[in-house]
Amino acid sequence: MVRETILSPADLIWPLFVTEGEGIEEPIASLPGVSRWSVDAIVKRASEAIALGIPCIALFPNTQSDRRSYDGAEALNPDNLMCRAIRAVKAAHGDAIGVLTDVALDPYTSHGQDGLLGDDGYVLNDETVAMLVDQAMNQAEAGADIIAPSDMMDGRIGAIRRALEMAGHHNVQIMSYAAKYASAFYGPFRDAVGSGGLLKGDKKSYQMDPANGAEALREVAMDIAEGADSVMVKPGMPYLDVVAKVSDMFNIPVFAYQVSGEYAMIEAAAAAGAGDRDAMILESLTAFKRAGASGILTYHAAHAARLLNR
Ligand code: PBG
Repeated sequence: MVRETILSPADLIWPLFVTEGEGIEEPIASLPGVSRWSVDAIVKRASEAIALGIPCIALFPNTQSDRRSYDGAEALNPDNLMCRAIRAVKAAHGDAIGVLTDVALDPYTSHGQDGLLGDDGYVLNDETVAMLVDQAMNQAEAGADIIAPSDMMDGRIGAIRRALEMAGHHNVQIMSYAAKYASAFYGPFRDAVGSGGLLKGDKKSYQMDPANGAEALREVAMDIAEGADSVMVKPGMPYLDVVAKVSDMFNIPVFAYQVSGEYAMIEAAAAAGAGDRDAMILESLTAFKRAGASGILTYHAAHAARLLNR
């Protein structure tokens, strides 16, 4: 009766990795317990999410290397892996499940960066934004419910919002990865989408410095002004102070992403006997809600929902 925070499956968003083929499940070594699934299997995972009370899945494609290029043009292909997965889930389940899609070029580029590279090797902001708008439109046409730009270019939220309105996609929402840090906790994700081995250098010219908190508030304010429906803080556990500040200061839903490295950390700790796995999972997810998050993206979503539904 005096508990302040209640965690429920309705708070969870389940990130899923998509791969080519049929009937495929490919375990990801650096994310024990997480697999890449072919499109047909993704539809089954969506059924599982619905049965568990999870309202939304987030899709990430593992684009085959022969479809990757310097400019990431595959992101704009209406029949790319991502769009086929979106269409299959929507055809099978309609509004019973939300589909959130990541906007950034890293699953499609041969260099693993989130945007187009200039001659100096740095990402070009404005040229990239133009391409991200087309990528977002491609996903919206395929049926995405929530467009989630994770690229951290300046001005992309406003540009995507205008394009969506002009094309009549009034009900497609934008969840901005507004406060996304240049973090050491993304390694297993990069393996999962196949960009890890390709990436040279880092993403520090566009992702935020982990030492900065006030900058996160400025980024959030800008993205809200540009038309974001909700914002995200990422990674999660090391940034609960940022989650708390954003949720205190802004009247907009705030989501936290418990990223791949955080998942791997909990799994490694549990495997080493350093703590009770289920208890660590539920405690970490409850802490996000206590900090003010409206919802949490977590690779533990299905397992946590099963625990919560017991
Ligand atoms: C790519 C993207 C990343 C994640 C989500 N979208 C990785 C990166 O920025 O390099 C990380 C998610 C995770 O680690 O679970 N734009």
